[in-house]
Amino acid sequence: MSEAVWTKLAGLEKPTLRQLFDADPERLDKLSTRFGLGEEENATGILFDWSKTHLDDAHVAAFEQLAAEMDFAGRRAALFAGAVVNPTEGRAAEHTAQRGVGADESVALAAENHHRMAAIVEAIHRGAMGEVKHLIHIGIGGSALGPALAIDALARDGAMVDVHVVSNIDGCALEQAFAACDPATTMLAVASKTFTTIETMTNALSAIAWLRENGVEDPYGRIVALTASPAKAIEWGVDETRILPFSESVGGRYSLWSSIGFPVAMALGWPDFAEFLDGAAAMDVHFRDAEGMANLPLRAAFADQLYTRLRGCQTRGVFAYDERLALLPDYFQQLEMESNGKSVKVDGSPVAGPTAPITWGGVGTDAQHAVFQLLHQGTNLVPVDFIASIAPGDDLDPAHHRILLSNCFAQGAALMAGKDSDDPARAYPGDRPSATILLDDLTPATFGALVAFHEHRTFANAVLMGINPFDQFGVELGKAIAKQIEEGDASFDPSTTALLALAGIG
Ligand code: F6P
Repeated sequence: MSEAVWTKLAGLEKPTLRQLFDADPERLDKLSTRFGLGEEENATGILFDWSKTHLDDAHVAAFEQLAAEMDFAGRRAALFAGAVVNPTEGRAAEHTAQRGVGADESVALAAENHHRMAAIVEAIHRGAMGEVKHLIHIGIGGSALGPALAIDALARDGAMVDVHVVSNIDGCALEQAFAACDPATTMLAVASKTFTTIETMTNALSAIAWLRENGVEDPYGRIVALTASPAKAIEWGVDETRILPFSESVGGRYSLWSSIGFPVAMALGWPDFAEFLDGAAAMDVHFRDAEGMANLPLRAAFADQLYTRLRGCQTRGVFAYDERLALLPDYFQQLEMESNGKSVKVDGSPVAGPTAPITWGGVGTDAQHAVFQLLHQGTNLVPVDFIASIAPGDDLDPAHHRILLSNCFAQGAALMAGKDSDDPARAYPGDRPSATILLDDLTPATFGALVAFHEHRTFANAVLMGINPFDQFGVELGKAIAKQIEEGDASFDPSTTALLALAGIG
């Protein structure tokens, strides 16, 4: 049924961005929307400007029809009701309940877990668990990237505890953390939803050995476990009183809001962590209640589908014009590619068109001097998101922030306008799309709303494509083969065999 809408979409006229602005004086109002957070008077907020994309009334009407045919309303209701929206694993996806929006029972359980987490965080800050100056947070993927991003974004002005996030099994990563920490005042957070991930468990054992070798008599007494598998953590040696559980229905890449956010609360303090959850909750309520084009994550997904499926764009660029958000492209890369990098629909049948594009990006203005050449003149069409904050994060001469923002806005304008030249090497084709997300300020609340917006955008894209964004079986085969190699239990192709022999493995 939805194929007919795609056919209709493919047949629509393709006016240029300039023509779209010229034809509709209300275009900016229609496609650039402020999302307010907090009390009216001193409300902070975020502007979501999608006016420099090729969405027009005709596309929007067709995409709204597509959303209706793909039962967007039903799948969204199922998400918030805590129904099984991840059928291949038989699970709900209840990250919004962590923010207080969802099924009553799940919200209550999340609140209980947060209560326990807040008590432990505050006890550590009070010194009730001995002097803690450093925290080495050990996890990988969804159990590491979110905390690393949130701390980098929000704790620059001074963290309450010095946090080091270690994810890679490459011992260089852990050694770097050891070099920066005093073992006498270091605590370990072992973060793993499953409590079986080889990188995390290996790193955790090495960190315990490091504490012991440096005079800590009871290193296990320095561990807090963040997990949805408390029984495994106990079996592994963590004291029950220092396990911070979260629900199995919270996916790894959606888990920053759960106890996986423990290092964030340790760095920022509980009130800021609570504000971060509240910012995300405001976006949840918007996504749950707003209809059609007025729904900001759904609107973004319409544009995403326009570029991926109708214009054949294989990548999507994310450029944060904010040094504090340098990890944001990586975070969105994991969120979007692990969620929507699929080839089959929820019912197992092949997807008709392309699914998630490759999310990539960097930080402005650095990226302008490295990769923007391709954005302006390359043969690949890359839709770009620019993300910036009106309020500066630095205390230097205001010229810094002014130049930063001028450059950010200049790039969007240049991509759209292009420039003619008699010299082909100096001509810019223009008509290249971008969206701009402009925060009033980078605060825990706006940051929470920004991340939640992208979670819902990812979900909305999945619904429009008919896929399940909540499983990730694509990561399993490589893990299984690595295990076989470790166990010396397999034979491989000639190339792999030669590589293993050269490295002295197996
Ligand atoms: O391998 C992918 C993955 O399962 C991610 O989805 C997850 O965030 C990460 O590994 C870590 O898993 P865990 O939290 O269970 O250690």
